[in-house]
Amino acid sequence: MKLPRIVVMPGSRRREALSRRVAQVCAQAVREAGAEVELVDLDDYPAPLYDGDLEAASGLPEGIVRLQRVLHASDGLLLVNPEYNGSLTPLLKNTLDWCSRPNPADAERSGGKVYAGRAAAVVGTSPGALGGMRVLFHVRDVLGYLGMQVIPQQVAVGQAGEAVGADGRLLDAARQGMLEGLAEALVDTARRLRA
Ligand SMILES: Cc1cc2nc3c(=O)[nH]c(=O)nc-3n(C[C@H](O)[C@H](O)[C@H](O)COP(=O)(O)O)c2cc1C
Repeated sequence: MKLPRIVVMPGSRRREALSRRVAQVCAQAVREAGAEVELVDLDDYPAPLYDGDLEAASGLPEGIVRLQRVLHASDGLLLVNPEYNGSLTPLLKNTLDWCSRPNPADAERSGGKVYAGRAAAVVGTSPGALGGMRVLFHVRDVLGYLGMQVIPQQVAVGQAGEAVGADGRLLDAARQGMLEGLAEALVDTARRLRA
């Protein structure tokens, strides 16, 4: 049987981003839970700040059209969220917004169709103690609005700069276990929703 395909996406493109490091841990957990993983680097899918006039004049940015195809080909999405003032990074919100726009040249693989009916999970990261716990409630809402089925499990990785061991897993065994549980639930939900 075909393995479910999960996109893992950190919400920062900063070179030394903590969310990038944690996204690699997440990607490994999702692979071990039995899915194929596409680890997306938003540096590879650039887009200007969304502006309706720009869209009317030039359509969707080329990077967004490519990302829509990646999302459309997937069965689920795992967002690894830095927290900016208790909410999503502008980079992530801008990317999700652009991808929600229809592309008349590729109606089947754009707009709401890249999200609807797919599974999603959210992880928070922060150099602070709370691990981006507050962003998780906001990002869940956004994904639900987009028609994704967000699983109840979530993990907040605090002190993210020191959280990952040399073996690519979280040093905190309990938190690593939570992440593995989240990955299993995500893969299971993705498999069931797309069956
Ligand atoms: C505009 C801004 C707002 C921030 N707000 C929060 C916050 O609400 N909670 C938090 O834990 N960290 C906050 N931070 C610190 C980020 O967690 C930290 O910069 C983190 O390293 C960014 O994620 P990244 O390493 O994946 O790029 C904020 C940083 C910026 C630039």
